[in-house]
Amino acid sequence: DKVAILPGAPSDVWRYTAERIVGPEDTLMPVGESYAGPLIRLFRGQRVHVRIDNELPEDTTVHWHGLHVPPEMDGQPRLPIAPATSTTLAFDVVDRAGLYWYHPHPHGPNGGRVGFQSYAGLAGPLIINDDAERALELPDGERELVLILQDRTFSNGNELQYIDDGGMGAMMTRMQGFRGERVLVNGHPDARREVSTQPYRLRLLNGSNSRIYKLAWSDGRAVTVIGTDGGLLAKPERRRSVTLAPAQRIDLWVDFGDTEPGDSVQLVSEEYQLGMMGGGGMMDRGMMDGLMDRGMMGDRMDGMMDRGMMRDMMGSERLSLVTFAVVARANDAETLPERLAQDLPASPVQADTPVRRFELGMRMMQGFTINGRQMEGATVADDEIVRLAQTEIWEFVNNTMMPHPMHVHGLQFLVQERISAGGKTDLHDGIIDAGLHDTVLVFPEERVRIALTFKDFEGFYMYHCHNMEHEDAGMMRYFKVV
Ligand code: C2O
Ligand code: CU
Ligand code: CU
Repeated sequence: DKVAILPGAPSDVWRYTAERIVGPEDTLMPVGESYAGPLIRLFRGQRVHVRIDNELPEDTTVHWHGLHVPPEMDGQPRLPIAPATSTTLAFDVVDRAGLYWYHPHPHGPNGGRVGFQSYAGLAGPLIINDDAERALELPDGERELVLILQDRTFSNGNELQYIDDGGMGAMMTRMQGFRGERVLVNGHPDARREVSTQPYRLRLLNGSNSRIYKLAWSDGRAVTVIGTDGGLLAKPERRRSVTLAPAQRIDLWVDFGDTEPGDSVQLVSEEYQLGMMGGGGMMDRGMMDGLMDRGMMGDRMDGMMDRGMMRDMMGSERLSLVTFAVVARANDAETLPERLAQDLPASPVQADTPVRRFELGMRMMQGFTINGRQMEGATVADDEIVRLAQTEIWEFVNNTMMPHPMHVHGLQFLVQERISAGGKTDLHDGIIDAGLHDTVLVFPEERVRIALTFKDFEGFYMYHCHNMEHEDAGMMRYFKVV
């Protein structure tokens, strides 16, 4: 399909198109031609029927990220949909109200195609509503906006560029994960939205391959978080900035009531540093620039990485995401309730809850590993078998120099504990560990413990890093519920 993303010649994109979606009108912003997948709205308790027709030239799957569905409905790589074939799925919607998403999950003998297929355009949002959330009367309709953040690089001919194959540069990009030069929101560059002086609900999905965002408001107001991956929090959390890793969602509440018509406020991703060798930051971007400027370090290291790439590896520039132009005055002054969800589960952890440890490691030139292993199809090791109805603590230990957003399929978990031996990075203050999650960011030299319970369904699920280049390179494994 050809869609003009930027002015100029159209770029080739792959997109999900829906023949029929039963449900209320969508609120995907901004409206108009784009590659973003259609917004699917579901109600908790309903049954869903999906037919997927694969019109792509290669295998794909459709994975319902964050949803508690049976293994056979989970769009796992072991269940590929071949070109020119169809498959039908059905499942019950049992998850809490929240923003989830769907994306491809193919992985063949030569590696994964999640990064490429998502980059080409295959990703879409899915909202679950329920009565408990409705009772809170949060902003909806025109004042509930779904924002999918993705970064893309365009060639001079306006083609989407992914990793050029071959060469050290490509290898380094695969190690680091792909970062695009521009941010698109719902497939559009320079996203802008006209708003009135009222509260809005912004539902963000980081659909980027590897970029982490440090969300903040251009006028310095606090970022008010009302929900995470698995739905609403028990109470709002306010931060100067909020960290959003790939695959994570965040639900924000913002009141433009203190802004005058004619003004505008930007949602931005602030500049941040990650440090090269870990949380402690042995060398940061300023130091590296200094060394390069004084000629003490080459602008290119043996053709492996150029300056831009090295800077990127150590953090990110400031990026403008969406401009909210306040154009109209409105008089209803709604306030945000200080008590939100009442249905969040209490911690299921007991003194004797078993702990399972996963070490994130690196193999030079071969990418990242989990407990020394990489993806090997639907096979599990002894330490990847879990019991149905059991609660466990999983401990992710990051022994690498990069952060990894770790994702577990088929459930939502609670973050129990985060221990940072490497000190705090610029992104730590913006981490929201409260609430339910399906993806948790684990920084270098950090241990993060999550509590999860394997309910209802036996069989294979997956756990992996959601840096898409990492998972495609094998930082992904199956686990089995028995
Ligand atoms: Cu977003 Cu294995 O998934
Ligand atoms: Cu998933
Ligand atoms: Cu990773």
